[in-house]
Amino acid sequence: MAGYKVAVVGATGAVGRTVVRVLREREFPISELRLFATSRSAGSTVQYGDVQVEVMEMKMGDIAGADFAFFCATGDVSKEFAPGLASSGTVVIDKSSFFRMSPSVPLVVPEVNRHQLAGQRGIVASPNCSTIQLVVAMKPIHEMSRIKRLVVSSYQSVSGTGLDAIEELISQSKTSLDGGIVSPRVYPRQIAFNVLPHIDSFDPSGYTGEEMKMVNETRKIFDEPGMRITATTVRVPVIHCHSEAVTVETEAPLDLDGVLDSLGSAAGVVLAREPGSYHTAVECSGRDEVFVSRVRKDLAFDNGISMWVVADNLRKGAATNAVQIAECLAGS
Ligand SMILES: NC(=O)c1ccc[n+]([C@@H]2O[C@H](COP(=O)([O-])OP(=O)(O)OC[C@H]3O[C@@H](n4cnc5c(N)ncnc54)[C@H](OP(=O)(O)O)[C@@H]3O)[C@@H](O)[C@H]2O)c1
Repeated sequence: MAGYKVAVVGATGAVGRTVVRVLREREFPISELRLFATSRSAGSTVQYGDVQVEVMEMKMGDIAGADFAFFCATGDVSKEFAPGLASSGTVVIDKSSFFRMSPSVPLVVPEVNRHQLAGQRGIVASPNCSTIQLVVAMKPIHEMSRIKRLVVSSYQSVSGTGLDAIEELISQSKTSLDGGIVSPRVYPRQIAFNVLPHIDSFDPSGYTGEEMKMVNETRKIFDEPGMRITATTVRVPVIHCHSEAVTVETEAPLDLDGVLDSLGSAAGVVLAREPGSYHTAVECSGRDEVFVSRVRKDLAFDNGISMWVVADNLRKGAATNAVQIAECLAGS
């Protein structure tokens, strides 16, 4: 079969399984597919089209020689294996946060900063799921008038934490409905029928790691180190899709119809234009686009626009973005 030798590390996880599915759906040209995870998963299989592909324990000797390697495991795994692989000619597309802020590593959302892939080999980082949908929605506005200030509150699904967290939400929901006592394991507090203003660890300033990822990654992707951004990231008892309430202030006043026209024709965006129409997580699950609705003039900021942004964190927020990066590099 003509195509590339492709490896997926973390292939048994929420993101890795979705990468395998998206590679197949988008018919990425593959001559050999190797799947890796821990020794616990060695010998299990992951479905690629009609074929069950066996998972191997991650070892440098077995992954060497891949043309493309998708890293969907932990930051430590990326740190240990990605540089060596990249220096031997493999394009590494990293879903972990480990290399995202490294100045020599491009952080790419193809609809926003595809130009950063020109001539690129080695490691390319894919941003945090909550950042990806934000920058896709902000790009058309930033092109109309430079963004001065960005205020975002997120409502993030449990699949953003991985397969264990999906299991925790389902089992806690059943236990709660049966009147039982819930014991949190993945999250610090009960997630079923609850809302947690806590994603990742807190830093001394009071922001969380997830909030600072949104701030720093958005600045890097737009190449705007001084962009004023504040984020409050919240975990909600939803299985798939992150939702975000966003308010943006631009340098120049914007005409609402112009903003709607621009969002309506933006790459990767689905716009609900009419007042009163909106998207929810359930409807956006399994989709690759970023869904924008509730677009309106903001009452609190001069030159302010507010909106509601929803996307599937495992697809556009992770797997689809990574496969799009590979498609750009395969075609270059
Ligand atoms: N979930 C999201 O929406 C999302 C979005 C963007 C980025 N990310 C990032 O993507 C990565 C994967 O997240 P996830 O949600 O898919 O997590 P997950 O469901 O917990 O899956 C983790 C995967 O990594 C594998 N793994 C863990 N340690 C490993 C090791 N030492 N060597 C090889 N494989 C190892 C696991 O293998 P076993 O099954 O054998 O344990 C599993 O396949 C994380 O870095 C996460 O921050 C996630």
